Amino acid sequence: MSTTLDTPAAPESGTGPDTRQFTVTLRVRRYNPELDAEPHWEDYQVTVQATDRVLDALHTIKWEQDGTLNFRRSCAHGVCGSDAMRINGRNRLACKTLIKDVSPDKPILVEAIKGLPLLKDLIVDMEPFFDAYRDVMPFLITSGQEPTRERLQSQEQRERFDDTTKCILCAACTTSCPVFWTDGQYFGPAAIVNAHRFIFNSRDAGGEQRLEILNEKEGVWRCRTTFNCTEACPRGIEVTKAITEVRRALLYRRV
Ligand code: SF4
Ligand code: FES
Repeated sequence: MSTTLDTPAAPESGTGPDTRQFTVTLRVRRYNPELDAEPHWEDYQVTVQATDRVLDALHTIKWEQDGTLNFRRSCAHGVCGSDAMRINGRNRLACKTLIKDVSPDKPILVEAIKGLPLLKDLIVDMEPFFDAYRDVMPFLITSGQEPTRERLQSQEQRERFDDTTKCILCAACTTSCPVFWTDGQYFGPAAIVNAHRFIFNSRDAGGEQRLEILNEKEGVWRCRTTFNCTEACPRGIEVTKAITEVRRALLYRRV
């Protein structure tokens, strides 16, 4: 199928909103387990506004061209974490990726995230991802009597784990990790991020248990510090730094 039409130049800054409209080609990796032996690429021509996101273009395809296209999304505003996908070879949220920012003068490649079983089109089985998440006990564990007043925490204590509280469980980090792709055992960055938020929380009493879990062969020592996870995170979480902090806590046996 033909490639895109010419993309009009962006307006000069200060001259008002960007109202350009242009046609792009979305090259989507399709797979229907009932019909296809292997996934294959299909091209769709979509007319978009300069302010449209990849998710908008996927909606246009589904609602106007091919209702059989399958993908997950819910909030459409970068909150629910359900529309992580590979766009031009990089893990991103479709709802936070502007088409004008992903080389719209060439076909835009859209495919499912890697390393999890492909179910259909852009949908993968997230259960292995959530299994690893559940394994690190992602909930507050307390000890002793129920307190009669709130458990106080200083600003400095809160800052220790502030970054990792921002996770939306989109799996962009874990499914960009080459160790996770090839290993099949590694918990992956997202599980470690979600352990970190409790290990370094002064109100939590389950840190030792979580550190022991992450000290196992599926845990933090498998990380090869490629930084793919940090680059992929749509929330800007310093994922590799969090993994390093957990490793250090294991080495020195203190948080
Ligand atoms: S750490 Fe970032 S990339 Fe990983 S699951 Fe959480 S929000 Fe997504
Ligand atoms: S649809 Fe919810 S994060 Fe994109």
